[in-house]
Amino acid sequence: MGILEVKNVGKRFGGLQALSDVNLSVAENTVHAIIGPNGAGKSTLLNCLVGKLIPDSGSVMFDGQSVLGRAPYEINQMGISRVFQTPEIFGDLTVLENMMIPCFAKRDGAFELNALPSVSSQKDVMDRAMHMLEEMRMADKRNMHAAAMSRGDKRRLEIGMCLSQEPRLLLLDEPTAGMARADTNNTIDLLKQIKQERDITIAIIEHDMHVVFSLAERITVLAQGTPLVEDTPENIKGHPKVREAYLGESA
Ligand SMILES: Nc1ncnc2c1ncn2[C@@H]1O[C@H](COP(=O)(O)OP(=O)(O)OP(=O)(O)O)[C@@H](O)[C@H]1O
Ligand SMILES: [Mg+2]
Repeated sequence: MGILEVKNVGKRFGGLQALSDVNLSVAENTVHAIIGPNGAGKSTLLNCLVGKLIPDSGSVMFDGQSVLGRAPYEINQMGISRVFQTPEIFGDLTVLENMMIPCFAKRDGAFELNALPSVSSQKDVMDRAMHMLEEMRMADKRNMHAAAMSRGDKRRLEIGMCLSQEPRLLLLDEPTAGMARADTNNTIDLLKQIKQERDITIAIIEHDMHVVFSLAERITVLAQGTPLVEDTPENIKGHPKVREAYLGESA
């Protein structure tokens, strides 16, 4: 039984069946990659795991509890954090201010506009945010506008914002998309370090096979909304189903 159990999930957008009969089991404290061609349904699946989309059918259980019907912040409180495909940082805020946002949320459980933290707790939040920036090796960039950072640093900040919530499951949607090779390698090292230092499960959607094979212990190949095969990286390499997924060729 995995920490994340997806059973028979389906999701339709109008006439398009984006996901059908998706079954996925992610074992605790592993790195599980989800790969597949553009439009395979990877982001749709991830969005169903975090309350951004509600599946039409099936179940999604995290640590024995259903995530379906819960608001995204509740799912976050259950221990799931995610980095979406499009970076979700606030470009006009500084790096430190961005990092403070999830630190407020962690302290209060949820954002409450009429219950702003007291001055002393604001200091706690700032201390926590600074601590996270140090862990992410970004403390020297704290006063920079987030929009001015490199793509690699934006991703590093987002991953740090997720980790500040001490998640048990970290979901990453193409964390290295559009990055230069050096930034990609830094991200691989960062994720390896995170894995080493924490009890954490990571599910990663990725197109870059160098990233996938550097990190993943299990790989699920998704095509046209359905998992084709799930196996170890060794067995996935050269698997005919992978060719089928990417080239539309039958095995
Ligand atoms: N909100 C939406 N409304 C309508 N169709 C959508 C919506 N979101 C996704 N789709 C469609 O669902 C299918 C799966 O999309 P999804 O974004 O999950 O693919 P993906 O595997 O993440 O692709 P990529 O690798 O390009 O990110 C695609 O055909 C897409 O156009
Ligand atoms: Mg996607």
